[in-house]
Amino acid sequence: MLKATNIPYPPRVPLARIPTPLERLNRLSERLGVDLYVKRDDLTGVELTGNKVRKLEFVLADAVHQGADIVLTCGGAQSNHSRATAIAAARLGLRCRLILRTPDPSNPPAPEGNLLLDRLAGSEIVWITADEYKRRDQIFAREADALRRSGLKPYVIPEGASNALGAWGYIYAAAELKQDLEKLPGGTGQRTTVIHATGSGGTTAGLILGTRLLDLNARIVGINVCDDREYFVKVIGEICEDTISRYRLNISFSRQLDIEIIDGYVGLGYAQSRPEELELIRDVAREEGIFLDPVYTGKAFFGMAKELERNPKCFGERIVFLHTGGIFGLFPKAAEMAAVLS
Ligand SMILES: Cc1ncc(COP(=O)(O)O)c(C=O)c1O
Repeated sequence: MLKATNIPYPPRVPLARIPTPLERLNRLSERLGVDLYVKRDDLTGVELTGNKVRKLEFVLADAVHQGADIVLTCGGAQSNHSRATAIAAARLGLRCRLILRTPDPSNPPAPEGNLLLDRLAGSEIVWITADEYKRRDQIFAREADALRRSGLKPYVIPEGASNALGAWGYIYAAAELKQDLEKLPGGTGQRTTVIHATGSGGTTAGLILGTRLLDLNARIVGINVCDDREYFVKVIGEICEDTISRYRLNISFSRQLDIEIIDGYVGLGYAQSRPEELELIRDVAREEGIFLDPVYTGKAFFGMAKELERNPKCFGERIVFLHTGGIFGLFPKAAEMAAVLS
C-alpha cells in the first residue's frame, strides 16, 4: 500500500487481518457532541487482536530474515504484546521465550487471559520481579547468550516491539487510515484527531511518522497509561529519530512540536482500574457493542471522554479513536468488573 505513495518500506510478513474497518460510533457521537469514529485494530485478528501484530509483521520479518529460530520478548504477566508474539512465533514455526513480570516469580499467576494463550501457544516463560524488569536488557542478554551456547539463534524483540522497525507497523496503518478518511464526508480535507493509548510508544511514533510522510491532515494524540508525558516524549522522540535516520526518511521532526501526549489518566497505576474506568468500559459495550480493555483502550477512552467533557471542541470536529485491542485483559478482571455489572 505504501508503494502507491512511493514510500519504500522494510520487508513484512503478513500476519494481521488488515485493512481494519473504520466505523462511526453514532450514539456516542451524539452524546459527546463530536463526529466519533473507531479504527478497529482490535480486529487485526482473533487471537492476534490488537496493535502489536502490525508491528510484529515487520519485526518478525527481520527475525526470519536473520535466520532466528527463537524470539525473546518481555512484558507484564498479562502483556498483549507477549501474547501476540507467542502466537505469531507459533504461526511462523519459531520458538518463543517470554520474560514476564510478576510480584513473586516463585508463585506465578494462574494461566488466564493472555497468559493462557501464551501457554497454549507453547511459549517458554521466565518470571522476573518488577525490580529485575528494570534491568531487562541485561536479562535479555543473559538469556540470549545461554540460547546461543546451546546452538540456537535468538532474536530479541524489545518491549512492545517499539523500535524503528516496529514503528513501520503504524506508518503502514497511517496509510490505511488515509484511505479510510478519503471515503468520509469532508475527506482528508477535514482535519482529524487520532486518539489512542500509549504504553511503550511505538504506536504513537509510527502514527506521527506516517502522518508526516503521507502529508495526512491529522493530529496524533496519545494518552499515556503508565509513566508520564516527559518519559514518553523522550521514548517516542528516540523511536522517531532512529526511524528517520535508519530509513533516511525525508521529513522534519521536532519532539516538542510533533509529540502530543495527554497525561493525567494513568489513574491508580498501570493495569490498576478505578471503578469509573470499568463503568465506562461497561457503558461503551452497552451503547455501541465495542469492548475496550481495562489496561490500555479503556483508560485512553476514559481520558478522551473526560477531556471532551471539559471542552467539547478540544479535539476539533472529527475524532478517530484507534482501538488497539486488548480484550483478553478483561478476563482476569472479571471479579472486579462484577461490581459494575448490575
Ligand atoms: C491493547 C494495547 N493498546 C495499546 C498499547 C500501547 O501501544 P504502544 O506500546 O505501542 O504504546 C498496548 C501495548 O502497550 C496494548 O497492548
